[in-house]
Amino acid sequence: MASRLPPLPAGVTISSLGRLLLASGLTVTSIKIDPYLNVDAGTMSPFEHGEVFTLHDGGEADLDLGNYERFLGVRLSKDHNITTGKVYRSVISRERRGDYLGKTVQVIPHVSNEIMDTIERVAQIPVCETEGQEQQIADVCLIELGGTVGDIESMVFLEALRQFQFKVGPENFMLMFVSLVPVLSGEQKTKPTQHGVKTLMSLGLFPKVIFCRCPQELEASTCNKISSFCHVPANHVISVHDVNNIYHVPLLLMEQRLHELIATHLQIWLPISPPQIGAWRQFAENIDNFKEKVNICLVGKYSTFQDSYLSVIKALKHASVAVGKDLNLVWVEASDLVTPDPKNIVPPLEDGETIQDRVIKHGEAWKMMKECEGVIVPGGFGVRGVEGKIVAARFCRETKKPYLGVCLGFQVAVIEYARTFLSADYAETNSTEFDEANKNPAVIFMPEIDKDNLGGTMRLGARDTLLTPHADGKDSICHALYGKKDAVSERHRHRYEVNPDIVPKIEGVGGLKFVGKDETNTRMEICELPRDQHPFYVGCQYHPEFQSRPLKPSPPFHGLLLAASGQLDAFLA
Ligand SMILES: *[C@@H]1O[C@H](CO)[C@@H](O)[C@H](O)[C@H]1NC(C)=O
Ligand SMILES: *[C@@H]1O[C@H](CO)[C@@H](O)[C@H](O)[C@H]1NC(C)=O
Repeated sequence: MASRLPPLPAGVTISSLGRLLLASGLTVTSIKIDPYLNVDAGTMSPFEHGEVFTLHDGGEADLDLGNYERFLGVRLSKDHNITTGKVYRSVISRERRGDYLGKTVQVIPHVSNEIMDTIERVAQIPVCETEGQEQQIADVCLIELGGTVGDIESMVFLEALRQFQFKVGPENFMLMFVSLVPVLSGEQKTKPTQHGVKTLMSLGLFPKVIFCRCPQELEASTCNKISSFCHVPANHVISVHDVNNIYHVPLLLMEQRLHELIATHLQIWLPISPPQIGAWRQFAENIDNFKEKVNICLVGKYSTFQDSYLSVIKALKHASVAVGKDLNLVWVEASDLVTPDPKNIVPPLEDGETIQDRVIKHGEAWKMMKECEGVIVPGGFGVRGVEGKIVAARFCRETKKPYLGVCLGFQVAVIEYARTFLSADYAETNSTEFDEANKNPAVIFMPEIDKDNLGGTMRLGARDTLLTPHADGKDSICHALYGKKDAVSERHRHRYEVNPDIVPKIEGVGGLKFVGKDETNTRMEICELPRDQHPFYVGCQYHPEFQSRPLKPSPPFHGLLLAASGQLDAFLA
């Protein structure tokens, strides 16, 4: 089969291994080591780094930790991301405190010891899936060391791992190597793998398992060759070839009995054997076999589409599987939804672009959005496209198209509602994020946040949202979707919020209602239109996508997909 997938990141292989161990009855945690000098991701720009994945404790990470959380069903913290910068910072501050008693502080042993201590400490952080569930120290910790063997950046980590195997004993440490086996003129090439393993061995590290990422299944002769050159039995050479979707990877590893190899080496007993992976298998196979599509329009920014909305896309995918449909995601550039004004064309025309081109784009964007069964406006930064998101919200409200607004998508729904239904004073209401001088803003800067210090001044991480019924006592859609829980914990990442002054005015209209608020009852978290006015019009200030799991879709996303596929009534009944 030709390579249909982009190369799988190593993290997918490792998190799939975690899923397999989980299915074997073990609890699993993970650590991602990034050999960068950055200390804190707080100032990471989503434009440079793709999505900023927010953890429960407010830690900001990249998509790798998101992958681990989704595959392992655990909740990780900012400590689960170790960087060179964090390790050095800690060594330097210990030196300042005099912890090293004035001795010369060196990379070996001081930095390498610090790495080993950090790994041991973080591996012991209890993990749990949802609130209320007992926290446990994991049986197995998967450590992914990013970068390429031989990189100068990763040297000190490799040395630390070399020492670590003696510190904890061989039965508590298992080194695995993730490699690439390219196919050139029909031949599976083992040279890159041999070279990588040789480099590792020269550093005193002997991998016990070799994962070979390859477009096609490894041939027996390839396994034998790698086995003899790399000093492992042939069944320890694991083929990670292309499969229809990434959820098949844990199954692929199970077929090659990887869980048994690991249990033998680590001298642990697997409580569940064979692994209980039926629901997961069903999920992976369902994706391959859907007959009907559900078309969901994502209104965002072109330039950053793929990377910036990764968790949103995963959450939509999880929800689409739950409603039994194949997700067809339709991207629409928010600014294309605004009618081009020849006198003031925003954004400015690009080289060679004419007004006419813009008019055509505008028409196409609307056609694409109209043809979808549901619309999502995810979080976003920057002023461009805000008016487009507002008209998208208006269109969905007026035509009764299912709508889910997340973060900025929630705020634009409120702005739109205020512009339409409140007095003329609010006809041009805006967010002070984009329009600082606005007289009657619907969305304002959170008062307690320090405006002059950008890094680390957001409302970040898990907060409780209390769910309330509609004024007439009718249950809210979100309360029902969240299994009638009265409080839910979701992750936040924002600096602006709905202006509390505007809330009574909006609720006075008799439509949009804030059915989720923070514990102080002043911060708006969820808005929705009642069911007799709209099939599904929901916005949430928090980011529900971060806690969506393949087998446990996020309730607001599930609601959108249920409504878009005509199943919400049946579900709520
Ligand atoms: C870990 O933190 C560093 C520094 O902030 C960041 O560059 C990296 O992307 C983070 N890695 C993960 C897996 O989150
Ligand atoms: C809201 O603010 C943005 C950014 O300044 C601006 O582009 C937009 O026109 C404003 N909307 C209204 C209705 O004033």
